[in-house]
Amino acid sequence: MSSVEEAKIATGQSTNGTTEKSVQKSEPPELPTPDPLNPFHFPDFALPTGIMFNGAPVMKCPVKDDSLTHVQKIRALDMRAEDILITAYPKCGTHWVAEILHMLTSGTSEHNRRTKEYTMLEFCDDLSFLDTLTSPRVLNSHLVMAHLPTQIVDKNVKLVHVIRGPKDTAVSMYHHLKQSASDQFTFDNFIKGYVTGEYIVFSHQFEYLRQMAQFERAHPDQPIMHVHYEDLKQDPSSVIHELSQFIGRPASPAFCHEVASACGFSNMKKADADRTMPESLTKLRTSKLHLYRKGIVGDWKNQFTVAQNEMFDEFLAQQKQKGFGFEPKGHV
Ligand code: A3P
Repeated sequence: MSSVEEAKIATGQSTNGTTEKSVQKSEPPELPTPDPLNPFHFPDFALPTGIMFNGAPVMKCPVKDDSLTHVQKIRALDMRAEDILITAYPKCGTHWVAEILHMLTSGTSEHNRRTKEYTMLEFCDDLSFLDTLTSPRVLNSHLVMAHLPTQIVDKNVKLVHVIRGPKDTAVSMYHHLKQSASDQFTFDNFIKGYVTGEYIVFSHQFEYLRQMAQFERAHPDQPIMHVHYEDLKQDPSSVIHELSQFIGRPASPAFCHEVASACGFSNMKKADADRTMPESLTKLRTSKLHLYRKGIVGDWKNQFTVAQNEMFDEFLAQQKQKGFGFEPKGHV
């Protein structure tokens, strides 16, 4: 079955492309005038800053410094040779991999008592907090390589890069942003704004992947492990075992299995309720965002209409022509 047919079925649309609509005689509601700077109604915090640094757009950092100053500080951050840095485009499974690495480095299957934002570079209000952590530190960031510490290369820091299929990533991101957006921020609006790459603070996933591929080509000796969300979903214990070898702490099959179970979707969701958030985030919002939504592969089929799927496929074809950087798994 083609992906378009699957999407048709998922949306309840008939295969000849028609949908049933009730006949309404009332006047159409007056539509609000679109804001030329935000025609697709993205939430404010997700809009681009319009600031460039080292050739890449600066994302908004919810910290006391302005975003550019904070990114410049991150770029100059002292790294340690034992550090492990998770690098991922948002919504690819960063929390999941962060928890796994927390367990592998601590040698227990106890959940981290702190949210991953404590060690997320762009959310870390006071970067000197990172100096207080014992090695090996598990840090994480959604920043592009051009904004990450230069010492990553000097200290040969291990990078764990998380990748997820672009349609599922987009759906997950929409639901993430929707929690802070108005009713006008529909999935249709999201997809239209997302594919242009102009209305979202960190651009779209392929810009990120291309930059990562470029970095890897320029630094062939950098230790980088690419983790696909779909592989982690299919066989978590094997990926966890590979991760344990990559970070130089080979774990037994029994421990990998224990970590896989503790980091399963429902256990992670439960554990999240007890975690503390960093102060920078509590200032921003009083409650945590719902990060553990569905945790499945292929949810895009429940979300995309036929037309949206066609638009996205066209976007993917354009991106493929430019070079994907990395071939994500899952419905490309
Ligand atoms: P969905 O919105 O599709 O459910 P990130 O951590 O990069 O923000 O990514 C969040 C996505 O990873 C969400 O996807 C979330 O549910 C999923 N996720 C988090 N922990 C997971 C787990 N243990 N197993 C499967 N998916 C998980």
